[in-house]
Amino acid sequence: MSDIGTFLAANRRNWDERVPMHRRDRNGFYAVERFLRDEKPLHAIVLGELGDITGKRVIHLQCHFGLDTLALARHGAIVTGLDFSPAAIEEARRLAEATGLSAEFVCANVYDARHAVAGDFDIAYVTWGTICWLPDLTRWAQTIAALLKPDGFLYFADAHPNMLILEERDGRLVPEFALDTPPDRPLVFDEPQTYTGDATPLTASRTYQ
Ligand SMILES: C[S@@+](CC[C@H](N)C(=O)[O-])C[C@H]1O[C@@H](n2cnc3c(N)ncnc32)[C@H](O)[C@@H]1O
Repeated sequence: MSDIGTFLAANRRNWDERVPMHRRDRNGFYAVERFLRDEKPLHAIVLGELGDITGKRVIHLQCHFGLDTLALARHGAIVTGLDFSPAAIEEARRLAEATGLSAEFVCANVYDARHAVAGDFDIAYVTWGTICWLPDLTRWAQTIAALLKPDGFLYFADAHPNMLILEERDGRLVPEFALDTPPDRPLVFDEPQTYTGDATPLTASRTYQ
């Protein structure tokens, strides 16, 4: 397996393991219970920018366990969610069934999305914690272009890279990471727990970003 294949496999193991913790949602980070009660709208920034999506065909890339995908469906979109974690896709399908919302969920590497899903989309939706996992943004953009209708668009929202290079050290924010991490030499993280505050230890704790 190439180095990038090794990085991808390690990341997938890590995400597979996080899914049940995020679904259990002990700390309320994902507000799953509110979501199930239809009380969790999309992020205010997203809602303000996305406009009316009624009847739009939306592909949600790196959809995790489908909360935003299903929220987009609640706003009237015709949605497909895609993620490379089988555990995430299984959970997303369960949530679709539990809520009675219509959504297609596909398990695939984002780079294989064009082959994995049928049809063209009005919107490719990519938000919060996504491209840090991807080794090649040119190929990512080409994949998205191939998924979109001629007048379709990418909706992308995330924290600013200038913020993401900072770490807190002794109460101060200091630049710690480079902006131009080479794809074959990603940053390696060993994080004992997931980011939601759930204290359950991660076994597949190593990730490549
Ligand atoms: C931080 S989560 C994104 C959360 C998402 N914004 C949401 O609304 O729930 C990152 C997701 O990227 C997925 N992922 C990482 N690398 C991927 C890849 N190469 N192809 C497809 N999905 C990937 C992970 O499985 C995980 O679900």
